[in-house]
Amino acid sequence: MNLAVLGCSVALVMASAAALPCGAADGFALPDESLYAMGRHVYERNCLVCHGRWGDGDGEMSKGMVPKPRKFSSGIFKYRSTPAGALPTDDDLIRTVRGGRANTSMPYFTHLSDREVRAVVEFIKFFSPRWRKPENHAAPVKLPDPPVWLAEPLGATRRAEAGRLVFVAACSLCHGAEGDGKGPSALTLLDAWGDPCPPANLRAPALRNGRAPADYFRVLTLGIHGTPMPSFAEALTEEQRWELAAFLGTLHRTEAAAVTR
Ligand code: HEC
Ligand code: HEC
Repeated sequence: MNLAVLGCSVALVMASAAALPCGAADGFALPDESLYAMGRHVYERNCLVCHGRWGDGDGEMSKGMVPKPRKFSSGIFKYRSTPAGALPTDDDLIRTVRGGRANTSMPYFTHLSDREVRAVVEFIKFFSPRWRKPENHAAPVKLPDPPVWLAEPLGATRRAEAGRLVFVAACSLCHGAEGDGKGPSALTLLDAWGDPCPPANLRAPALRNGRAPADYFRVLTLGIHGTPMPSFAEALTEEQRWELAAFLGTLHRTEAAAVTR
């Protein structure tokens, strides 16, 4: 409580002449200086080996990692609940630090206290000036609840077939018709940092963004900033995105069956 108030007054002081009222842009607050020292301590002990001294993603352990540790200095983030191009919310950052990211070298941190996680999340904001500009911040996008048919086995199966047809047309170029990440353009894709960015193998048991239908829907709606994975909010209807979510759910089950056979 107190901290939030403090963050707000620091923001006011630093905005000086511009006289920004607190919360001028949705979700905007300047990085919280009061957590800087603690955040730096946590960062140096837990994050620096990968993310690097200056947040450039080039720590000692980063060699050969695909994907590379995030370059915090670029101010571009993949895991967000906010609109394409906007910075992530604190909750988005905390989710990554607490839960890690499947199929990447980003570990999960359960031994840190809530205050330490808050502090390190504030600290990484000091690596990029993008955090200091209100126009880069936005509130999370409100996503609709999953449709009723998704919970009905028969309805979901029929919709998954419709989703498969959309998948072949809109996704197979990158993800492959089987969803195994081996589409014709797979080897040529690069991320915003100039590194190879293979399309996800959507049959893998765990995905970076999660495997719940709502996770698929979020990724399809918001895209993954800094990677070739586009937002389909314009190109596909809400219904089509849920049908794709139903289809992606079946890919995982098919693979699990193949393994146990
Ligand atoms: C062993 C290496 C390693 C360590 C240690 C590590 N990270 Fe990461 N981190 C990564 C990699 C690799 C990625 C990129 C994952 C991706 O691109 O999907 C990443 C991604 C992230 C992201 C996601 C950024 C985005 O694009 O949304 C955040 C936030 C993050 N790390 C914070 C931290 C913090 C804070 C710590 C320390 C408490 C930490 N990391 C420690 C390797 C590491
Ligand atoms: C231009 C190439 C391209 C197209 C077209 C494309 N994707 Fe992707 N997709 C990617 C890449 C690259 C990634 C990996 C992003 C990353 O680095 O995490 C990805 C990631 C994903 C993820 C997240 C996987 C995870 O690990 O969480 C999902 C889900 C996904 N794509 C589904 C789709 C669907 C469904 C379509 C079609 C509607 C589609 N993609 C179209 C390139 C593409």
